[in-house]
Amino acid sequence: MTFSPELEARFEKFLAKYPADRKRSAVIPMLVYAQDETEAITQELIEEVAKRCGVTPLQVDEVVGFYSMLHKKPQGKYHVQVCTNISCLLVGGEELWNQACHKLGIGHKQTSADGRVSLEEVECMGACSWAPAVQVNYDFYHFVTPGQLDKLLDGLAAGKKPEEIADVKKVSC
Ligand code: FES
Repeated sequence: MTFSPELEARFEKFLAKYPADRKRSAVIPMLVYAQDETEAITQELIEEVAKRCGVTPLQVDEVVGFYSMLHKKPQGKYHVQVCTNISCLLVGGEELWNQACHKLGIGHKQTSADGRVSLEEVECMGACSWAPAVQVNYDFYHFVTPGQLDKLLDGLAAGKKPEEIADVKKVSC
């Protein structure tokens, strides 16, 4: 399987970080960055990562099945994740989730017909102190109000980039 030179360089860097008998530690970061380039985790990708990390394809497949940020199906250009775990739930996370489903007309792990936006209900994203929290790709939105979520989703659906949407505060990681 061939990847871009940038991704190959990243893989090389990850693999160099770990001793020969601990290459398996690179499985998760390699999968995360590879899926950004390939749009989804295919069987071919699983086998390639397994080969490079010295584990079996089944072990890589088990990792993919465990972590919700790893996807076997292509996501939308903007993958919107709404947390409904306890801290977010207490301050409106479930209402935000229902609002997003209703507004986009799609549900959990579904993608809009134009491929622009996909939606996922997620467990705690580690942003409990800033609940309710929403994540779009790698960017967090904290203390999200129903009005802000409306603006965010309207903007994404209309073809805007997240940073072009006014009055919705993004916290980059
Ligand atoms: S419960 Fe929502 S970020 Fe932790």
